[in-house]
Order: sequence, then C-alpha cells, then structure tokens
Amino acid sequence: MKILVGNWKSNGNRKDKQKLLSALKKVKTNTKIILCLPFTLLYGDKTKVSIGAQDISLYPNGAYTGDISGEMLKDAGVKYVIVGHSERRKYHHETNEIVKHKANIAIQNGITPIVCIGESESDHKNGKTKSVIKKMLTESIPDNGGFIVAYEPRWAIGTGITPTKSEVESIHNMIFDVLKGLNRARTPILYGGSIKASNVKKFIDIPHVDGLMAGRASLKPETFLPIIKNMN
Ligand code: PGA
Repeated sequence: MKILVGNWKSNGNRKDKQKLLSALKKVKTNTKIILCLPFTLLYGDKTKVSIGAQDISLYPNGAYTGDISGEMLKDAGVKYVIVGHSERRKYHHETNEIVKHKANIAIQNGITPIVCIGESESDHKNGKTKSVIKKMLTESIPDNGGFIVAYEPRWAIGTGITPTKSEVESIHNMIFDVLKGLNRARTPILYGGSIKASNVKKFIDIPHVDGLMAGRASLKPETFLPIIKNMN
C-alpha cells in the first residue's frame, strides 16, 4: 500500500480541516493517507485518515512551557509525527541528534515517526547529495521500532522545482540499501518536495518510492484529491 502524507505546516483552521476531512470521506483509494496537522487541529475527529503531528517535545510532561509531549500526542489520538523536517532543522536548529531523540520518544509513545532528510541546494550542486543523505539518515533514525523516511531535497520544498526521476531513483535506492544494511529494509521511503497532481505519476512508480509527502497541495480538496487519484 502506497502512503500519502499531507503536511499542513503552520496553516489551516478548523473550517479548513472540516472541509478537507469531509471531502476525504467520499474518496475511494488504496493509498494510506496521513494528515499531519498543526497542534491546534489535532483533536476530535472520527476519520478514516490517520492524523499526525509535526513535532514532538524532547521532554516528558512537566515544566516545559510551550512544549507538547509524546504522552499528550498519544492522548490526542495521534498515530504519526513528522520529525526533522528541513524547516525545523533550519528555523529551530534541530540537529540529527535531536531528531533521533524525538523519533525515539515518538516510538516510546506508540507513535510512528516520519523522519525527514534532505540535502541543501549547494550540496546538490556540488555532488554531495549521497554522502549528506547517508549521514542524515544513519544519525536521525530511531534506535528501535518502526518508522517512515521522507526524502525531501531542501531546494525542492515549496519551490515548484523537483529532482529528475533518475535522481530520485538513485537516492531512494541508496536509502533502501542503507536501511537494508541496518536490518530495516521494510521501512517505507517517501519522496516529498513540490508534489502536485501533475507530477505524481513521475515519482510514484519508481522502485523504492513507497509514497509521497505533499505540503502546499495538501491544504485544499481541490489540490489534494487529484493527488490521491493519480496515486492509484
Ligand atoms: P511542498 O512541501 O509540497 O509545499 O513543497 C513539502 C514538505 O515540506 O513536506
């Protein structure tokens, strides 16, 4: 089963969520849909799509003002959490070590981490993608338990620019080989970065592309539903 993650980032209100969830109710698909919402929208829905968060605290419940702990996410019914998104790495200075720690905390709370990795534009231009990705991957994944990897080149996020099919194929093969070497060959590997309905077919049949992650296009039924349709 292919996976489609919608990452709402810091967007959306209750009305937007209701609109998308009711549109999704009518959709027939074999794709597993995970909607990663802002904290303010996590509670209170009976829906067949899986709900995910976009961050998890490094700390347990306690005196950590502003933090949302793994226990709280679990209580809210969250099944997935994005860790190490490039925007968290950039604006909140999250290192591989922090990302790994957050992934471990998610697993301790029965939540599957979606571990994001991706090279910068200059790494890409200088032919360093594979070495950068390998290091990010091995240093960011949890010690035990199931997880998902999302490969999202930083230069492809929100830019409308995507890598070529052969670039994605070669990086996903490498990610698979690394995971296999760690006895974690069954980990789903997603591609993300400027996904829209018209480029789904380009990526979805590549070997070791187990699904996609969409940001902007996941916010509205008009752009999200055609992606789901093209994944079948
Ligand atoms: P985008 O974002 O689809 O808007 O490029 C993807 C992401 O950051 O997950």
